[in-house]
This record gives sequence, structure tokens and C-alpha cells, in this order.
Amino acid sequence: MSSPSDKLRVAIIGAGAVSDYHHVPALAIDPRAELVAVCDTSEALLAQRKADWGIDRVTTDAEALCADPSIDAVIVATPNFTHKPISLAAAAAGKHIMCEKPLGLNAVEVREMYTAARDAGVVHMTAFTYRFAPAMRYIKQLVQAGDLGEPRHFRSQRFLDWPETSWGWRQYKETAGAGDLYDMTIHRIDFAVDLLGPLKSISGAVARFAPRELTADGQACPPSDVDDWSAILGEFTSGATGVWEGTTLAKGYERGGFGHEWAEINGSEGSVVYRLHEPNTILRGKTGHDLAPEQVPPELLKPAGSPRDPSQGEPATVFRYDLVWEFVSAIVEGRQAVPSFYDGLCAQVIADAALQSHAERRWVDISDEPK
Ligand SMILES: NC(=O)c1ccc[n+]([C@@H]2O[C@H](COP(=O)([O-])OP(=O)(O)OC[C@H]3O[C@@H](n4cnc5c(N)ncnc54)[C@H](O)[C@@H]3O)[C@@H](O)[C@H]2O)c1
Repeated sequence: MSSPSDKLRVAIIGAGAVSDYHHVPALAIDPRAELVAVCDTSEALLAQRKADWGIDRVTTDAEALCADPSIDAVIVATPNFTHKPISLAAAAAGKHIMCEKPLGLNAVEVREMYTAARDAGVVHMTAFTYRFAPAMRYIKQLVQAGDLGEPRHFRSQRFLDWPETSWGWRQYKETAGAGDLYDMTIHRIDFAVDLLGPLKSISGAVARFAPRELTADGQACPPSDVDDWSAILGEFTSGATGVWEGTTLAKGYERGGFGHEWAEINGSEGSVVYRLHEPNTILRGKTGHDLAPEQVPPELLKPAGSPRDPSQGEPATVFRYDLVWEFVSAIVEGRQAVPSFYDGLCAQVIADAALQSHAERRWVDISDEPK
């Protein structure tokens, strides 16, 4: 960090929806960092972001931005097929990297990204947003403290009611890798492994229902070739079982745009539930009692030191700012970020195994990834 203001100089690569939704607002409240440059291949969007985000320095050349010595760190929020070349360029130039999920189009790509970032000695982080939900943080503490007894079952549902028009780059294997599996279920794979440890073996399935041959404004486009439903059945190394289901075609699951998200653990002594639309509360129950709401303790509503006021804003949105807080904290504290590219790799290996399982109609064993 050698800017005149002594702040960490961060560039955003990919000025689309997710950067606008939470990466830019998160940087704006972090006194240790500043957004100094923005890259996007769309000149029109860059012109708009100059006004939206109050930024002067914009470029369409991601690799040149990565090589720029006046940048300390990059946030990669571009379509999935571009994550690898951009992250490799950033690692080669010694930049710290937070990259959106899925890290790549398959685990082979992601292994290369992880190895490059690790060997370059930079901080690397995968943007697995939902690890930062206060309810998720509280559940992790309860699991680690043994309050649920022995975790036996993990269960995750992510149901969205999205239009059946084109998903743009998201609807092609060439640019996205997979559909719902890589877009939504991969987050749930990540937090399940974070809570219950590694998976030993899985059986997966995907399905496509919507052709998506029209854009939202009625223009014809090539049909989708990715899944809009995905499911996994898994055995954890611990012996626990896991069941995941995700879809973007669940009619009636609007819930203010946040859709339905439910993830739970049933342990030998009790059950706990995380719901995205109530991220500051868990449901908790034990034998003889129904599940009942319980507030997340105040100290877990945000990371220590964060300037974010948990009483402000839409709870299901604002916890996402804590991703950038963790990325910047790891850099200024000289430690690795959590979740790292390694975690992104472990989740991608499992997602790929789900596709393999579906294609080959069989269970697939998951092997450990070398660190
Ligand atoms: N962590 C989360 O919760 C979360 C949420 C939404 C999206 N995402 C991920 O974030 C990424 C971006 O998603 P989005 O919804 O913002 O997509 P988007 O299409 O809205 O934005 C992507 C932007 O990248 C730009 N772009 C494309 N190629 C580029 C390149 N080579 N260099 C620079 N810019 C380039 C596009 O012009 C576009 O503006 C995806 O990987 C997606 O899976 C993660």
C-alpha cells in the first residue's frame, strides 16, 4: 500500500450487477481501501459507472489494469469464462485477488488459478457470499461448539422464480460452465463443506426445462445449453448425509426478489436453520420442541471492526458487504482470506462431480485436493 492516502488501491474488473449490488457499496464504507479504477469491456457501461460510482479512471483492458503498479488488489466480477485469464494475469503481477464464483469453467481451470495465486504469494479469495450471513456465522459457531451434538443431516433448498427469457452469458456452457449448479448450488456446496467438513462421495443430477430462446425484450438468441435445476445427494467423510436442491423455475417463490433459501443441520442434540430472507435470525429446535426463532448474538451480526451498522439497510443485502471487509482485512493483516481459492476449488470439484455423476448415472468419489 503506497498510495498518497495510504489506502489499499482496489480495481474492479467487471462493472455489472454484482459489483454494483455489493462490491462497490462495500468498498465505499471501508476506510482502509479505495476504489481507484474500473474495467469493463462495455464502453457504455463504463460511461454510466463513472457517474454511478464517482470514478474517473476506467479502461476496457483487464490485463493492462492487472499489470499497473498503482493497483494493489483486484475484484474480478466478470462472466465465468474470463475469471481464469484475468486471475492469472493478476497473480502474475502480484495483485491480491477476490474472484467471483464459480472460479472457473471447471475444476481443471480452478486448480491452475489456485496454484498460481498460492505460488505468487498473494491474498486470494472466492466470493462465496452466504458464508457471511450472520445466521451462517452463528450456525458455524454452534456446530464447532458441539451444541447440536453430532451433525447427521445437511439439507439445502434454493428456489427462485426467475423469468424464462435469456440469461445472457449465463445460459451457455462455453461462457458459464453450468447453469443453476454453478450459479446457485455451488454456494451451498461451499457452506455445507465449511460447516460439516469434506464430502466423501456424491450423486448429482441436473435438468433443463426452459429453452430461453428470447431475450427479455423479445430478440431471438441461441437456446440455453445449461441446467436450470440441480440436485446433489452426498455422504460427508464424517458420515453425515447431505441433500441439495436448486432451481430458478419455482413459480411463486418471489419473496421480494430474494426467493426461498433454507439450509439446515439436524444433529443428534438439535436442529438449526438458516434462511436468506431472515439472515439475522436462526430457527433452532430440539426433541420435544418445535423449531423457534432465535436472534443471532450481536457480536456475530458483522465481522469484528467492520464499520457496517447491522441495523441499517435490508438485512438480506447488507451482509454481502462483509465479503470485501474480509478481503481487505486479510490483506492489511497479512494473512490468507477465508474463503480462499482453495475453497473455491473444493466446491468446484464437487460441482463437477455432480455433472459427471449425472452424465454417467453413478455415484462419484471426491478426492482431497492438495493444498
Ligand atoms: N457472489 C455472489 O453472490 C454473486 C452474485 C451475482 C453474480 N456473481 C458472479 O459474479 C460474476 C458476474 O456476474 P454479474 O451478475 O455481475 O454479471 P453481469 O453480466 O451483470 O456483469 C459482468 C460484466 O463483466 C463485463 N465483462 C465481460 N467480459 C469482460 C472482460 N474480459 N473484462 C472486463 N469486463 C468484462 C461485462 O461487460 C459485464 O458488464 C459471475 O461470475 C457471477 O457468477 C456472484
